[in-house]
Amino acid sequence: MSVADLPKIELHLHHEGAAPPAFIRQLAHEKKHDLSGIFDRDGGYDYRDFPHFLATYEAACEVLTGPEEFRRLTLAILEESAANGVIYAESFLSPDFCGGGDVAAWKDYLAAIQDGADEAEKRFGITLRGIVTCVRHFGPDKAKASARCAAETAGDWITGFGMGGNEAQYSQGDFAWAFDCAREAGLRLTTHAGEFGGPDSVRDAIRDLGVERIGHGVRAIEDRDLVAELADRAITLEVCPGSNVRLGLFPTLADHPIQKLRDMGVRVTVSTDDPPFFHTTMRKEYEGLEQAFGWTTEDFRAITDTALDAAFCDAETRARIAKRLEDTWTTT
Ligand code: ADE
Ligand code: ZN
Repeated sequence: MSVADLPKIELHLHHEGAAPPAFIRQLAHEKKHDLSGIFDRDGGYDYRDFPHFLATYEAACEVLTGPEEFRRLTLAILEESAANGVIYAESFLSPDFCGGGDVAAWKDYLAAIQDGADEAEKRFGITLRGIVTCVRHFGPDKAKASARCAAETAGDWITGFGMGGNEAQYSQGDFAWAFDCAREAGLRLTTHAGEFGGPDSVRDAIRDLGVERIGHGVRAIEDRDLVAELADRAITLEVCPGSNVRLGLFPTLADHPIQKLRDMGVRVTVSTDDPPFFHTTMRKEYEGLEQAFGWTTEDFRAITDTALDAAFCDAETRARIAKRLEDTWTTT
């Protein structure tokens, strides 16, 4: 079996960011909404840099206007993920794009997303759990509304709370109220840090928000003491190598610090972030890591075990996924 065929766990996937461009184009066509400016000549998403990527992402969201659109989106995303060998995924869901932070509207969107996920589980054998996510550059007040949505729907399906968006705006600590609210509701916590922000952003995430996972976190490599702290505290990084290279953090995959972080004892996992935006898939991530660092089935197995351990699901779901993995490991 080639490494790309191995069963996979993906912990860092933005629901809207996973929307295939053809899916968004079709919705734009149905709604007679002109989105031609966000696509390149090949029909992919077009953007210049990170702020423009975020603007393009938000423009695509303009046609994701109701629960039914999110049900269809969920099914499309999970069909693609399952085709890439993903058996368990966690995706970031933003009340900002699902009802604008209104709790009742959010519940309608969430019900539709769960319908899509249930259908995908039956048809494609993939399990999804949701992480409610605030958007940093929308500011702390919007984040509070997202946290309230998260707290109202926390349970065995919405299992986490997180934050994405532009790290150049606000500080992690500005969002402490939202993260405290989510923690008190029993949610597990992650935030984007150490992507466009440096090591201090990762430190702030740990100290000010008390997260147990970090989205990206790769710029911790610039500070050896911080890397040691991540290892000591067993904080898991949701590393998205293809995304980091596409957005210009590292010139090539061979320059990416994922292997160094592993060597220094940090718990790393592998995800795609926003796969169509970065022309990636989980299969491509695996193939790239095999090529760049010589990772073998054993390495990918270790990464997958770390991901399952760090997953924000309940014990019954973890045991079920572990059993599926065990069945594969014993036959490869
Ligand atoms: N939202 C979607 N993708 C993101 C990324 N890579 N960084 C921050 N926010 C995001
Ligand atoms: Zn992300």
